Amino acid sequence: MEINPWSSAQYADYSRLREQFGIQALQPDDWEQLPRPPSFFRRGIVFGHRGFGLIRQAILAGDPWALLTGLMPSGRMHLGHKMVIDQIIYYQSIGADVFIAIADIEAYATRGYTLEEAERLAIQEYVTNYIALGLQPCTIYFQSRHRDVKNLGYLLGKKANWSEVTAIYGFNGATNMAHVLAPLIQCGDILHVQMEKYGGARPTLVPVGVDQDPHIRFCRGVAAAHRLFNVTVAKDGRIGVFVKPDEDVARLLDLAAQVISGRGLTMKRLDRYKAVYLPDASPEDIPALDLALAREEQEHGAYGFLSPSSTYHRFMTGLTGGKMSSSKPESAIFLTDTPAEAKKKIMAAKTGGAVSREEHKKHGGQPESCVVYEMFLYHLIDSDRELADIYRRCRSGEQMCGDCKKMAVCLMESFLVEMQEKRAAAAEQVGDYVVWDEG
Ligand code: TRP
Ligand code: SF4
Repeated sequence: MEINPWSSAQYADYSRLREQFGIQALQPDDWEQLPRPPSFFRRGIVFGHRGFGLIRQAILAGDPWALLTGLMPSGRMHLGHKMVIDQIIYYQSIGADVFIAIADIEAYATRGYTLEEAERLAIQEYVTNYIALGLQPCTIYFQSRHRDVKNLGYLLGKKANWSEVTAIYGFNGATNMAHVLAPLIQCGDILHVQMEKYGGARPTLVPVGVDQDPHIRFCRGVAAAHRLFNVTVAKDGRIGVFVKPDEDVARLLDLAAQVISGRGLTMKRLDRYKAVYLPDASPEDIPALDLALAREEQEHGAYGFLSPSSTYHRFMTGLTGGKMSSSKPESAIFLTDTPAEAKKKIMAAKTGGAVSREEHKKHGGQPESCVVYEMFLYHLIDSDRELADIYRRCRSGEQMCGDCKKMAVCLMESFLVEMQEKRAAAAEQVGDYVVWDEG
């Protein structure tokens, strides 16, 4: 299986995907201690991660951390797009420093939008809805208008080569160069928040759909490649700080020793191995040490970016089966749909009900392959008890699809009406969020 961030395939088998690409499963241990665990954790909507432990630690310790994610302004905003903003709003409420990139350059390079179209869609659809959904002031910017992001994208490319990007993205001789640069601009997005000017080195969470994992892997690699130090468990099990460049090793080892001193750790410096070993350090000491070293690197003119952490959420099934997509209006509920439009789509939606009413009563339905149930699960029903009840009644044949649909129509109507009401005020507030020219 291949993950291609620009294709629109569906990834039904999430655990296989995880195993194949080395994505970690997100377990209750990862989120149970966080404040008011939201339904996207409890219900496995966010199913995997890379390096979420760093974020969890920062949250629990009250240390600074950042969140950056991006949106591709292509088409109208639908329910599938709402999943990421639900997460952003939660993380913002527990202290994340939030940045949102509008990928207008990427939309231009890979989807054929003009920057003007991308801008209009981004503001009218995404940003306005985000604010209406409850996003508090934060930094929203356009790739094309952010000098630091673009510079960083270009400069970070120094440590990525053609074989690497062709292996990850399948680029070939016919790929246009703006497209080739898109993954680097995305690295610029993700890593610029760790520049001193934007808050400095700190854990950074990138919540995305799993189609974005190639970009995350690439970015983690690029961030690591620009580091001067590497803190790791060596083959013999000892923890050590290793100098990566081959020049200036003695001075860098001095620097490492300086950062380590005062932490109550024994040091054994071996210039020959470009290392300072820490015989009594434990793996739990690594993150704090790594962060201190990254900050020191920045003091000395290097990038010093921690590799970003990521989480992956599931995709939403379209109302007609397949994928929920803006290019197929009947498959999606748009946040700007009227209740009547939504009703029509929901009434026509594919359920997990049996072929006939009699069959359904006798054998029950299949909520796990029902789009209406999915809407309850992802968006419409907050109470776990109520949801479990519908699940059970569906399986036993007590719950009828018609009743579910009526309920979905009703809940969706109140949601859409509320959105409609809030959007007018939200449109006035866009200026408090969007930074037009930065860097
Ligand atoms: N590539 C993302 C998409 O296709 C958009 C994006 C741009 C992004 N920059 C980002 C996502 C940074 C996460 C982080 O939707
Ligand atoms: Fe879906 Fe409800 Fe029908 Fe079950 S009864 S298949 S949950 S619509």
